[in-house]
Amino acid sequence: MHASVGLLLPVLLLTLPCAPGLPFYNGFYYSPGGRDLGSDHRESLFNGVKLVVETPEETLFTHWGANVTLPCRYHYEPALASPRPVRIKWWKLSENGAPEQDVLVTIGQRRRSFGDYEGRVHLRQDQEREASLELRDLRPEDSGRYRCEVIDGLEDESGVVELELRGVVFPYQPRQGRYQLNFHEAQQACEEQGAVVASFEQLFRAWEEGLDWCNAGWLQDGSVQYPITLPREPCGGLGLAPGMRSYGLRHRRLHRYDVFCFTAALKGQVYYLEHPEKLTLAEAREACREDGAHIAKVGQLFAAWKFRGLDRCDAGWLADGSARYPVAHSRPNCGPPEPGVRSFGFPDPQSRHGVYCHRQR
Ligand SMILES: *[C@@H]1O[C@H](CO)[C@@H](O)[C@H](O)[C@H]1NC(C)=O
Repeated sequence: MHASVGLLLPVLLLTLPCAPGLPFYNGFYYSPGGRDLGSDHRESLFNGVKLVVETPEETLFTHWGANVTLPCRYHYEPALASPRPVRIKWWKLSENGAPEQDVLVTIGQRRRSFGDYEGRVHLRQDQEREASLELRDLRPEDSGRYRCEVIDGLEDESGVVELELRGVVFPYQPRQGRYQLNFHEAQQACEEQGAVVASFEQLFRAWEEGLDWCNAGWLQDGSVQYPITLPREPCGGLGLAPGMRSYGLRHRRLHRYDVFCFTAALKGQVYYLEHPEKLTLAEAREACREDGAHIAKVGQLFAAWKFRGLDRCDAGWLADGSARYPVAHSRPNCGPPEPGVRSFGFPDPQSRHGVYCHRQR
């Protein structure tokens, strides 16, 4: 049942359309006889002046909802007497099957930002020859590698900044049970829990931190894998070392599995609602609303457990109709010995439990 299956996918070579006669540089077209550069000026460029772009080597770690600045600076070697006009372009590199994404470009004095980044990005040029990118109100999908490119008409240099949001990976199975989700439904299921489908790197890190899960789940790149720390017969066999068990890439529409979701550190607060009686699912939703909050999503409960140490031995309803409780410090009569978020699955909506609410703030 858990054999490793590798799928060989045909490699598609795509040819991109290109305007004839113009050199194509990362989305910008240049006419070779650049208008704002005189021929003398151009001459000096070939006299050994080098454009150098600097970005930090270390990964920047941050969290959901934060503002962050991705540093980028440039200079010339040897230094130039007079500044030369440059264009700046930031874009996010393609990753885990997600396409490359334009973030911001400068056009003369103007700046243009794109897609999800509109209104959230700002070029920081506090110092001379700075081209840093400020990114506000970070979202889980903002994790990744960003390229800062400086273009001065004849030269074109760039550096990469890696941004990582701290978060928690959790396996998810819907009400219908095990292995019910194709890739697209898996994406939707994670989204409904306040999360996104985890990347291989995120699941791998969770495995390093001890995640052991014997049901295979979708990852962002369209592969299906599961992390095993204690090798055992039904989970790939005793002969295999601890590690990630992979089914390889699966068909995104036809194949059905569980999913690994990732949620970045929590915005707002998750709490167990103190209430005189136990509640049905509908009453639980209402009780959170009356408390100026919403019934918590599964991802929010995991984030509160992982980052705020939420610890409560009472099962509570969550938005998807499951009932769970978070244990940060294990103790007798409170489930298995290791810390974790325990699940009661999806009880009858008329049965009575507590509730976990989430308040934005
Ligand atoms: C991020 O920047 C915006 C605009 O400058 C500001 O209103 C907001 O409070 C900042 N958020 C955080 C978490 O610092």
